[in-house]
Amino acid sequence: MEMYEIDELIKKLTLEEKIGMIHGQGIFHTKGVERLGVPPLWMSDGPMGVRKELQDDNWNPKGTTEDFVSYLPSNSALACTWNRELAKEAGNVLGEEARGRGKDVILAPGINVIRSPLCGRNFEYMSEDPCLIAEMAVPLIQGIQQQDTAACVKHFAVNNQETRRLDVDVQVGERALREIYLPGFEASVKKGKTWTLMGAYNQFRGEHCCHNSYLLKEILRKEWGFDGAVISDWGGIHDTRQAAENGLEIEMSVTDCFDQYYMAQPLLEQVKAGEIKEAWIDEKVRNILVLMNRLHMLDGERKPGTCNSREHQETLLNCAQEAVVLLKNEENILPLDLKGKKRLAVIGENAVKLHANGGGSAAVKALYEISPLLGLRMELGGNVEITYAPGYASSQENTEEKENWQSSSLEDRAYKESYREKEDDAVKAAREALIEEAAALAENHEDVILFCGLNHEFDLEGQDRADMKLPYGQEELIRRVLEVNENTVIVVLAGSPVDLEAFADQAKAIVYSSYNGMEGGHALAKILLGKVNPSGKLAYTFPKRLEDCPAHSIGEFPGSDTVSYGEGIFVGYRHYETRQIPVRYCFGHGLSYTSFAYRDLSVEKRENGFQVSLKVSNTGEREGKETVQVYVKASGKTIPRPVKELRAFSKVRLLPKETRQLSFFLEMQAFSCYSEEENRWIVPKDRYEICVGSSVQDIRLQQEVHVAAQYL
Ligand code: BGC
Repeated sequence: MEMYEIDELIKKLTLEEKIGMIHGQGIFHTKGVERLGVPPLWMSDGPMGVRKELQDDNWNPKGTTEDFVSYLPSNSALACTWNRELAKEAGNVLGEEARGRGKDVILAPGINVIRSPLCGRNFEYMSEDPCLIAEMAVPLIQGIQQQDTAACVKHFAVNNQETRRLDVDVQVGERALREIYLPGFEASVKKGKTWTLMGAYNQFRGEHCCHNSYLLKEILRKEWGFDGAVISDWGGIHDTRQAAENGLEIEMSVTDCFDQYYMAQPLLEQVKAGEIKEAWIDEKVRNILVLMNRLHMLDGERKPGTCNSREHQETLLNCAQEAVVLLKNEENILPLDLKGKKRLAVIGENAVKLHANGGGSAAVKALYEISPLLGLRMELGGNVEITYAPGYASSQENTEEKENWQSSSLEDRAYKESYREKEDDAVKAAREALIEEAAALAENHEDVILFCGLNHEFDLEGQDRADMKLPYGQEELIRRVLEVNENTVIVVLAGSPVDLEAFADQAKAIVYSSYNGMEGGHALAKILLGKVNPSGKLAYTFPKRLEDCPAHSIGEFPGSDTVSYGEGIFVGYRHYETRQIPVRYCFGHGLSYTSFAYRDLSVEKRENGFQVSLKVSNTGEREGKETVQVYVKASGKTIPRPVKELRAFSKVRLLPKETRQLSFFLEMQAFSCYSEEENRWIVPKDRYEICVGSSVQDIRLQQEVHVAAQYL
């Protein structure tokens, strides 16, 4: 449909019809205008797969058997692949499955910055680094939208905690906003060309994000030229006039009084009374029609989509394999060589626990989910006897998605305490028994794998964690098991960084995986047994102590009614590196079963940047993949700068002894920072170095470059 036709269509719509198009008329859809061929717009969560079908006017599941879907690796897993092609393929799966279920908009990806290890929704987000977020979000969005499904990048913006999420007022300086919190969204709009975006629940500088004039009108529309639709988070609107005026298209909420939404009857009345311009409503309707047009909902041929195809499952296995991070591998304990061996001990509830149906709105009704223990059985067959002991127990009922939690999600708006588990004498005794059983098993087995970590009782929407500790007595469990069997392999499964200090020095091998989708346990088994070489890299730092984390070091997480991001741009590794705070596992870290050598760095000045090239070789015996990371180091002479900032990366596959030449182009933006005095990007006079390495700490090559001070 041409633009003029859309304008003609708008002229034919009554005010009531237009109002019907801009707010929820069911918990996941708007109203169409049948007489003019305008369909309703159907949305669905979320980032890890298309959510199960719910009733139209409440949050109870329909309970049918036709809504099982593919369960994707969470964004926190996908980001650890550092693989743009896989992000695109994962996007294709999500977009195609959304279409397969008749949805128009998939409420994904979540790309908020991981500011604290404690945020309950970290698992839905990608990284502490804006460059990695931007680079992974763009192909993911493109992948979704290639399937005639709209991505909905969320939550715009500075939505970095769950405590008081509906109202907390985030105060963040302009520099940190521009350098840390916005680049992922900016890239999603400008490069990813996302067709929709979701406003965040929280306030930003005293105004709710869903109708925040600075974020939506100034930055999103004017500066970035966004011409798609902004959708509110469910219940994120608080004011009819602001919502009408400040660049939001669709109001969604959690209650069934659809006509009472701010952008329903109240808006209709104010327009009729001449208090709100009808032209603002027309603008929203135009943006919605443009969106529908892009999705071929108004004319043309629309892709049909599909669910649960074999190809999807294969893609998700590939993603899952690359998302697993080998953190430590002393004495080459891994991969486990079970040739000729008959026994294997598996310990820890996360070996058997299924995670798909938990976490909040991201929960998925998975067609299947392969647990690590099942994965091991699939890979080992019947000749190895696997004995399992749980070692610890979670409180089962909390980790399954609670039916209908969302209908009351606005009522407990006040403040949910960060989650801390209860420990009484009975709990302690039960734990002790589980530990004894596990230790006895570990003692009489040569090969032991212990699966520990978190689950969606902790990695959960609406609630932050109280600390970084492993719950359910797991520290004691791991300590005791390592005491009796020092070769035990520790696998940590969690959607956020956790405290590994209790065992990280003692354990010889540690593997990390976030919630890794339906093939996650299969992928882990293949890696543990050496059928696949690990190639994941951490997308977020594992600090040693909570107090070391920037937001916590200044007492600004979770704040109170207001939270001030006083750490500014020093988020994640920018803080640890600059302030020389030792961490357990740094950003970008991840080992392989082979080794890589870097050489021949060359940096050539070009008119608008630097051409960087180097050679990387596989010096080991097995094929593997390495993620080469390029950081810019500024000494911060004139303006404080992080010691290193990720500016480019590339993942390469190398056969044994193979060497590849890699090239990167660093534009001047790579050297820039945002000046609050001048309100613009500048390249300050400074000493700059280009550092190339295998993690933020493992820099293999570096070279100083002369960069002229300039405005960008
Ligand atoms: C979440 C969103 C989600 C929406 C719809 C809200 O609680 O914050 O991320 O898309 O619900 O389920």
